[in-house]
Amino acid sequence: MSRISTERKRRSGPIDAVCRWTIVNLWNVGFIPACQKDMEVIIPKKISDPQPEKGFQMPKKQMPVPLPDVQYVMRPGIIELRSGHPNLALLPAKGLLKATRMVLQREPEQALSYGSEQGPGCLIEQLRHWLGRMENITPPPKQIMITGGASQALDMLCMLLTQPGDVALVQEPTYHLALRVMRDHQLDLISVPSDKEGIQVGVLEKILRRLQRQGKQTKLFYLVSTFNNPSGISLNVERHKAITELAKKYGFLVIEDDVYHQLWYDDFSSPSLFHNAPPGTVARLGSFSKILAPGLRLGWMISSPQIIEKCVKSGVLDSGGGLGHFNAHMIAAFIEANDLDIHIVTLRSNYRERRDILVHGLKKYLPDECQWVTPGGGFFLWLRLPRGFNSTTFLAEAEASGVSYLPGNLFYTNGAGAPYCRLNFTQVSLKDLEEGPKRLGIAIRKINKII
Ligand SMILES: Cc1ncc(COP(=O)(O)O)c(C=O)c1O
Repeated sequence: MSRISTERKRRSGPIDAVCRWTIVNLWNVGFIPACQKDMEVIIPKKISDPQPEKGFQMPKKQMPVPLPDVQYVMRPGIIELRSGHPNLALLPAKGLLKATRMVLQREPEQALSYGSEQGPGCLIEQLRHWLGRMENITPPPKQIMITGGASQALDMLCMLLTQPGDVALVQEPTYHLALRVMRDHQLDLISVPSDKEGIQVGVLEKILRRLQRQGKQTKLFYLVSTFNNPSGISLNVERHKAITELAKKYGFLVIEDDVYHQLWYDDFSSPSLFHNAPPGTVARLGSFSKILAPGLRLGWMISSPQIIEKCVKSGVLDSGGGLGHFNAHMIAAFIEANDLDIHIVTLRSNYRERRDILVHGLKKYLPDECQWVTPGGGFFLWLRLPRGFNSTTFLAEAEASGVSYLPGNLFYTNGAGAPYCRLNFTQVSLKDLEEGPKRLGIAIRKINKII
């Protein structure tokens, strides 16, 4: 722990009423200007694995049931760097409990009724102002709606805007499960390559011209604009205009999946593609899964009033009364208490340090031929194995050495990506995060000897 000088006595007043951790967090995020840095605050130097929150009593476990309760699987003896989950011990159960109590005491009838199709007004209002604080944009109410997470929003857009056989462009490499969602709608997926600054716009244009010559109409273009899953790369803002102009010219909708936007660890995230796009060209998806809790199954979409209206008027939202209405009230109360802003700052500092531990381990234990770009945010590091390696076949050796990852070919439509592995740094314990690269290094050296 390091200490910063004691001007505080002179300054006292409102600052004393604020907890120190909040001060550090606000300072960390840039809310407190540098001139106030000389307050007496304790800066935590190193993170440790989070402990269950004090005061939060876990009720006794229910009876064991034979069916799985959650999606992730931890295999004994294997360090699972393949997951895409947030750190479970950081899930803010206490804050959500407080929010739930508040909702049930203050607004039980609204919260337990069928909800409005667009999502409850209380969450939409909180979200608009939260976006204003986070990104300096406050979308008008008719341009935003609550979704059942980014996955549901993508599924809904495919369902409402496409027919089987329609063309959907996809950035590659891309979030592998989005490919599955689009395949459910029998779309003809065509890949658009990316480089270290995101989509290769020149290639995109060539693909669009070719499709036009073939008489094919492109309906959608799916991309992950900030801290891409799996590559960690963000789309350079200088490419935004060209992409959205192409969307306008060729008449397709860009689905900007931006679920990692708030999780930056070095520099602030660049503005989203939606930010300066011509009206009607982009639908931007956000999610509470990565910044709050995936089990809540809620997110949001920002787009043109026409697209929002089309989605809001869908039969399923009418019949079901919105999506996750009670959870939406709970999240609204959580944001209202300022707990989301604080939680995100905690996530940033914890995940930043985890990323650094992983990178340190990779530098220390992997042979020089391995390559990666250190991600500036998000959940993943995209590792290139040495020449001649195929990450799908190498997985068995890695797992035999006690470490796992997701093979790169999953993130491509055409089986490319063989030299790459996706490594997650948010979920496993700090000890395992240090140990994982060591095991990976051992496995690589074993195969290197054979090759
Ligand atoms: C890029 C991307 N989009 C969407 C999702 C899923 O989001 P949600 O939980 O909101 O459906 C993930 C989860 O890993 C993701 O990485």
